Amino acid sequence: MTTIRYDIEAILQLARPAVRAVDAYENASWDPTLERLHANESPWPPEGADPTQALHRYPEPQPKALVQAFAEYCGVDPGCVLLGRGSDEGIDLLTRAFCEAGKDAVLITPPTFGMYAVAARIQGAYVVEIPLQRNAGYALDAVEIAGTARTGYVNGQRLKILWLCSPNNPTGNAIATTDLERILDAAGERAIVVVDEAYGEFTAQPSWASRIAEYPQLVVLRTLSKAHGLAGARLGAVIAHPRIIALLRKIVPPYAIASQSAHAALAALQPSALEAMRSRVRLLLAERLRVATALAATSKVLKVWPSDANFLLVEFRDANAALVALAAERLVVRDFRGKRGIGAGALRITIGTPEQNDRLIRSLT
Ligand SMILES: Cc1ncc(COP(=O)(O)O)c(C=O)c1O
Repeated sequence: MTTIRYDIEAILQLARPAVRAVDAYENASWDPTLERLHANESPWPPEGADPTQALHRYPEPQPKALVQAFAEYCGVDPGCVLLGRGSDEGIDLLTRAFCEAGKDAVLITPPTFGMYAVAARIQGAYVVEIPLQRNAGYALDAVEIAGTARTGYVNGQRLKILWLCSPNNPTGNAIATTDLERILDAAGERAIVVVDEAYGEFTAQPSWASRIAEYPQLVVLRTLSKAHGLAGARLGAVIAHPRIIALLRKIVPPYAIASQSAHAALAALQPSALEAMRSRVRLLLAERLRVATALAATSKVLKVWPSDANFLLVEFRDANAALVALAAERLVVRDFRGKRGIGAGALRITIGTPEQNDRLIRSLT
């Protein structure tokens, strides 16, 4: 039996009063067996469009079959899943649900994914930074984070969300289990703890989705944008306690998931597609090792950081020369020079096809 460590009622009190109070927009009812004269749609699809796609119809708001498939993929109940347009939408929804402008704060651990801070600043929330420890392999400063979470306040503002990313973008490392457990216990019912697992398929660490029953303050973000190859479909999910999902459903736009995206996502979650995805992940992991080994062997490279993701953070002696060499091959990588907490000559390199990786290695070594 799962031990439920914290009270969901207390955690829900962290949400903005306006969100708790609002009644969700009522979507036009969804029943594919009926003829729709209730949603002011066109009775015809656009000229030339594939009629089987029914693009003249509003999509199913949270497509049942896709929610079910995503839930199975993550090993949770369908009530624990909210679909959105990529994990970016999950970040936006959580920020809007929990952070009151001028009163609330979020915690981030730079260097990390930029959208947590952007969403907070747009919402008018204060952003406190507790940097990753570069000299400890970019590990979290779990003691400092837990201490801050325990006080419940930063800069006089109520700390509402702790944003953690595992494996972390751009450093590539996964969070140690004991660090996250310490942080979850420190946050208790004072703040929600979000673990962004955008790169979860590339690490051997189990997903934190399996712990949401134990820790109702824990929220996990998953996406089909990375390992599943569906960045263009914009499909991600928030995985959380059903009461948190119900809260977010109030503010997700009524028809967030385009029908073509839902269709592509459902196909990607079928057993044969998942098998193909896993086989590609295995290939990318082998390629990651090949690229890392080749780059580590050249004197042009100062450091290749270990990675649990589909990219490598690499520090070059002369990053400008590396960028010029890559450009000659028409290859572009992410320039992290000058970013706080990262080495001066750091570039983030996504692992590509074996052929792309050959060209990358050739131009950089
Ligand atoms: C850590 C992390 N989270 C979220 C995202 C956004 O992903 P999505 O395409 O699901 O919105 C990215 C994209 O690069 C990312 O690196």
